Amino acid sequence: MNPQPASSASAPSPHVTDHLARVFAQYPLPVASAEGVWLHTRDGRRVLDLYGGHAVAALGYGHPGWTRALAEQARSCQFQSNAVPMDVRLRAAERLVRFAGLGLDTVFFVNSGAEANENALKMAFRMTGRARVVALEHGFHGRTAAAGAITWGAAGTWYGFPRAPFDVTFLPRGDRAAIAREITADTAAVIVEPVQGVGGAFDLGADYLRALRERCDATGAALIFDEVQCGVGRTGYPFAANMYGVTPDMITTAKALGNGFPCSALMMSEEVAAAVKLDVLGTTFGAGPLACAAIEAVIDAIESEKLLERVRRVSAYVRATCIVGPVTGHQGAGHLTGLRTSRPAREVQRELLARDILTGTSGDPHVLRLLSPFILEEQHVDLLRSALLSIPK
Ligand SMILES: Cc1ncc(COP(=O)(O)O)c(C=O)c1O
Repeated sequence: MNPQPASSASAPSPHVTDHLARVFAQYPLPVASAEGVWLHTRDGRRVLDLYGGHAVAALGYGHPGWTRALAEQARSCQFQSNAVPMDVRLRAAERLVRFAGLGLDTVFFVNSGAEANENALKMAFRMTGRARVVALEHGFHGRTAAAGAITWGAAGTWYGFPRAPFDVTFLPRGDRAAIAREITADTAAVIVEPVQGVGGAFDLGADYLRALRERCDATGAALIFDEVQCGVGRTGYPFAANMYGVTPDMITTAKALGNGFPCSALMMSEEVAAAVKLDVLGTTFGAGPLACAAIEAVIDAIESEKLLERVRRVSAYVRATCIVGPVTGHQGAGHLTGLRTSRPAREVQRELLARDILTGTSGDPHVLRLLSPFILEEQHVDLLRSALLSIPK
């Protein structure tokens, strides 16, 4: 989603042969270390990170509480699966449920956003006995078989499986008539990102989400919020569900949840959880103690450092001060910020990187996407504003 032409600065270190599969085109940014909101490169640059490794580094880099929690857990017991009880796992689930406060009180920890979505769909099929899923145009849900099938545009591009595992209908964003027409008695699940990430930091809004909730209630479909990117504080609320006052039947979340330790969660209502029988769900790595220690530390930092308030304040400051130079407007919520650009966002991104500021693009060619760490301060936003002012419109 954010390809940059390779340059000599991004070439592998001369002492290492590169055996890695070509996945994303890479930024010309050979990161050697990082601290706070700053990346330090092998060639001596200090770069302000407003992208956080695709929304992952919520606490920035080298956060002391998170680092300590992982080191202590690594020393005490680095791994046991769900087959044995562990206090750290119970604590992580309790912390997450309390943090959300949505009544989605049963948690299944897995490893990635796509895996959480696959399991959410599986639960919806089990509960309803139906086989059709409704998703949204411009939505992104991951790259595995089921998650890719509900991702807008994947079928015609990278999907790579011979057929989708179930029928999917994509709704145009904001189209109320399509809600009534397409969500019917044969719909197992409706899955949406309340604030679309890859789609361009696009905020679906409370009214639209409420209409989805009402239609799911009327038809018996399960409503799933994919908060892999917008959850765990990124909007300035625990989840976008809290911000909008709309509670789905399931939330999937990942990215910020571990601050870089790979993990994800499926949070379920009581009714969904009642369909979880022994051996219906499973995982080797999910809910491992290191992941759980990371989750506990992330939520602890968000709460004890009042980061939700800070996300709301600093993201409002971005919106108030950074509509300058090639930026003509904003969209999104909290630190899932879309800056609308007069020039192609990719060009603005390139110019910002030349000024030592890392940002992201999106599926909308005129939206620059900021996924800043929650620890961002106004002084860092001032650097972004100055850089934007120096870029031609
Ligand atoms: C909203 C959303 N859902 C799901 C995913 C997939 O997550 P993962 O790459 O961890 O499988 C992403 C990744 O960008 C995402 O933004």
